[in-house]
Amino acid sequence: MSNAVIVGAQWGDEGKGKVVDIFTEFVDIVVRFQGGSNAGHTLVIGDEKTVLHLIPSGIMHKNKVCIIGNGVVVDPEILLMEIGRLRDKGILTDPAQLRLSTDAHVILPYHKQLDALRENQKGKARIGTTGRGIGPAYEDKVARRGIRVHELTREAVLREKLESSLDWINFQLVQYYKDKPIELGALIPQMLAWGQELAPYVEETPLYLDREIKRGRKVLFEGAQGTMLDVDHGTYPYVTSSNTVAAGASIGSGVGLKAIDHVIGISKAYTTRVGAGPFPTELDNELGEHLRAKGAEYGSTTGRPRRCGWLDLVVLKNASRLNGLTGLAITKLDVLSGMEKIKLCVGYEYEGKVYNDLVASSFDLNACKPIYEEHRGWKDDLQNARDFDELPDTAQRFIRRIEDLTGVPVFLVSIGPRRRETIMRSNLFRE
Ligand code: IMP
Repeated sequence: MSNAVIVGAQWGDEGKGKVVDIFTEFVDIVVRFQGGSNAGHTLVIGDEKTVLHLIPSGIMHKNKVCIIGNGVVVDPEILLMEIGRLRDKGILTDPAQLRLSTDAHVILPYHKQLDALRENQKGKARIGTTGRGIGPAYEDKVARRGIRVHELTREAVLREKLESSLDWINFQLVQYYKDKPIELGALIPQMLAWGQELAPYVEETPLYLDREIKRGRKVLFEGAQGTMLDVDHGTYPYVTSSNTVAAGASIGSGVGLKAIDHVIGISKAYTTRVGAGPFPTELDNELGEHLRAKGAEYGSTTGRPRRCGWLDLVVLKNASRLNGLTGLAITKLDVLSGMEKIKLCVGYEYEGKVYNDLVASSFDLNACKPIYEEHRGWKDDLQNARDFDELPDTAQRFIRRIEDLTGVPVFLVSIGPRRRETIMRSNLFRE
């Protein structure tokens, strides 16, 4: 196998960072293709924790190239901060390790300002965004007034484009939201400074990838957020503003579909969600609190407590279909240890009918009652298991049931945050 996409099969935070980190060893290039600094990948290497929002987690490996693709919306302040931190740690020592697409759109301060103002105004109907300006930046991209990375060094272009778009932006900020306007005079020097600092990293990444793939280099496409947050296929409008499904890898990196051999979905052994929106298997009780405490379920970007619930196989089947999953990785199985009974949602009851498949728009997910299968839990700690056979029988049965119901092989089980706390049943990258 050569090139693979890794996507979240749930509502994000599935532990993609750890799985990407493990597989980076077998590839040459890691690409981010959508989203922005709304993502947060926590990596634990040795005893050190690193949280990355924009730079692919593959950067922690030497001799690998990380790419921020054209589909990403880039906040230069955050990117430069991450570059600085990784440089200080001696990790990102050569700009050639990180390639930033000329065509990625730039998140500007007013995108963040608008994101916050809108959420405040919506009150109870808020989406619960990360406040990182993601929605407003993608809106500008689609409205054909966005600023792209390659424009950050071109003063005349910036001035012309911003003079016209700031009219509209400031009208909203001042007249509608009664907030402060953006001053063009201060913004342009700031953008030019970012442009200069980022220049060594900027690259025409679709051409770069084409060249490298033709040379036989292996590429891992690292998704952010999760399938249920996809702007087309997720729980709209409680979604992010990009296509999080695997097909987004092609659009957001400029690589044709034929170059992608495998699609790997990541799912926790239970479910979490941050922000608002339907969540049929949510446990708004002590059990949910137990999962939150044991699984340290707090957002790595915003620190918000994550909503927790049982694993939902309707959601996983949906992810399998939409992404064309060829393999599943189940993370945080250890968090379920010690529970007497574990539930798996295998369908929904809605208006007296049973549904086993999901089309997000066809029924009100809030009104769906999960249909559960109950499984016996296991007492033992899992951390020392290194082989699938070393897991308690009940844990093995739980994993096999996920395979039965989704029709997708579980090739990796994660039983703790460290690299060594991983059971690899087969390595897709060696087949
Ligand atoms: P936005 O992407 O900041 O616009 O937020 C839209 C929705 O997606 C909110 O419910 C966020 O909580 C959720 N979201 C965005 N990024 C992530 C992520 O990386 N993990 C989990 N949820 C996310």
